[in-house]
Amino acid sequence: MKCLPFLLLWGLPQIWGSSEVQQRNAPLRCLQISSFANRSWTRTDGSAWLGELQTHAWSHDLDTIRFLKPWSRGKLSDQLWEKLQHTLLVYRSSFTRDVQEFVKMLHVDYPFEVQVSAGCEVHPGSPSESFFHTAFQGRDLLSFQGTSWVPAPHAPDWIKTVCKLLNQDQGTRETVQWLLNDICPQFLRGLLEAGQPELEKQVKPEAWLSSGPSPGPGRLLLVCHVSGFYPEPARVMWMQGEQEQLGTRQGDVLPNADGTWYLQVTLDVAAGKAAGLSCRVRHSSLGGQDIILYWEGSHVSVSLIVMAVLASLLLIGGGLTFWFKKRSSYQDIL
Ligand SMILES: *[C@@H]1O[C@H](CO)[C@@H](O)[C@H](O)[C@H]1NC(C)=O
Repeated sequence: MKCLPFLLLWGLPQIWGSSEVQQRNAPLRCLQISSFANRSWTRTDGSAWLGELQTHAWSHDLDTIRFLKPWSRGKLSDQLWEKLQHTLLVYRSSFTRDVQEFVKMLHVDYPFEVQVSAGCEVHPGSPSESFFHTAFQGRDLLSFQGTSWVPAPHAPDWIKTVCKLLNQDQGTRETVQWLLNDICPQFLRGLLEAGQPELEKQVKPEAWLSSGPSPGPGRLLLVCHVSGFYPEPARVMWMQGEQEQLGTRQGDVLPNADGTWYLQVTLDVAAGKAAGLSCRVRHSSLGGQDIILYWEGSHVSVSLIVMAVLASLLLIGGGLTFWFKKRSSYQDIL
């Protein structure tokens, strides 16, 4: 008992320390989208993703899986890869046939879409985890748990019948377990190793400020643009000193054509309160050296001054012309 406080003191920094050092590996996710337009028209397309990087594509029109990266084969032997491709081809045709049969049996209406997300995660020192989820019309339908198919919570009632029938097929359940528990972690470990240089790539962002369309009278929309960064996670905040501004609005992270990312973060403020605000960009490529850009009220006031000067020149000019005209007309009268 005596050593408990000591253990706590010793243990906490270890935990804190490790959370900084230990990076989580990217998961491997295989996505399938199957559209069923009517009884005779259907197509299935697939893709595989290592974290945010797409590594494979599988078009409905092709029998083979396309490699999108030089390292997409991972470290699987040719023989195992052949076997995997063959299994997936069989899966694709039997998936289509089974869905069509279920639909006929359960009187589900066309058209509809089925999506599958399956894959795994591996982390050093812990067992691999895998998942297989299916959605119908964008809503969770069923998943593979352990050794069998399980209906998703809140799924329509008819899915119970589907799961019952699927679970009677011992062969398919064994194949799914082999794919999820043996092949997937093995393939993923190879991909992580072969793709490491690209996975660990770091590209620094550029940032600049502009004003957006005015949100209303006397208000300014401050826009902080951050572009060209990789990987995707970035934190961008509008700050007053060290205080994060609550009204900060983050847009979607959008892809640039070169594979890097773009992000826009805005803040709606009263025109008089903009000076001294700053945009702070935090990204793994910056190694703790955040980019900080200050909103310079002067840009705005310079243009305002120029406009005011122009306006008064115009007014004076207009007045003088009017006066001269008047004078000349008086002269005419006189
Ligand atoms: C089935 O759907 C496809 C694609 O939308 C369409 O081209 C085709 O005419 C449809 N066939 C029938 C029999 O409705």
